[in-house]
Amino acid sequence: MSFIVAIDGPAGAGKGTITKLVGEKLGLINIDTGATYRCVTLAAIEKGYTLKEEDKIVKLLDELKIEFKKENNKEQVFLNDVDVTNKIRTQEVNNMVSQISHIPEVRNNMANFQRKIAEGKNVIMEGRDIGTNVFPNADVKIYLDATPEERAKRRILQNEEKGIQSTYEEILENIKFRDYNDKTSKTAPLKQAEDAIYLDSTNLNINQVVEKVIKIIEQVTKLHT
Ligand code: DC
Repeated sequence: MSFIVAIDGPAGAGKGTITKLVGEKLGLINIDTGATYRCVTLAAIEKGYTLKEEDKIVKLLDELKIEFKKENNKEQVFLNDVDVTNKIRTQEVNNMVSQISHIPEVRNNMANFQRKIAEGKNVIMEGRDIGTNVFPNADVKIYLDATPEERAKRRILQNEEKGIQSTYEEILENIKFRDYNDKTSKTAPLKQAEDAIYLDSTNLNINQVVEKVIKIIEQVTKLHT
């Protein structure tokens, strides 16, 4: 039996940070589904495929072995036995991953893979369609949101920490563009599952969101026991 917590929401809502912290506090295995799409993208880039070569990218799926490992307390991602934890976060991957994640065969394949790695485990999984598509029967579903303006502010701070120069206007525009693409996508539209709990983190700090998520999980679990 698995216990599944699904956290969905738009880019920059803090899903990654929150999922990691809640997972650590509650002893749930944290699965970063975005990393699976990033692995497919990296493999396509390494083969030199362009976005137009969808058929080749789809064929590539059979050759991919993606693994999540925890070594020295650090989450690591392996693609065909090679540590790609950092390589999947490059700008080159960022630029292609959204389009590749919308190829229907890629989505189906990754959704099946995500279901497989959760089998028999207690997991907290973040993504765009976990509560709607990957695990429609998840035990707990949360839709984590924040206004585009707040998400842009957070992204600026993250960029400053990494020494990346960016302006508020360009980040806000990019976030609004991504929201539009995510919400109008034909293959995997980002939307709140009917039975998901909506959590607006606009005026909350990280600890407050973590506390709220843990409360929601505890309340839902109590209702079912
Ligand atoms: O969360 P992230 O930035 O690592 O996600 C990378 C890309 O994958 C992003 O463009 C959205 C997409 N994605 C998706 O379509 N479905 C998921 N469950 C997770 C990510």
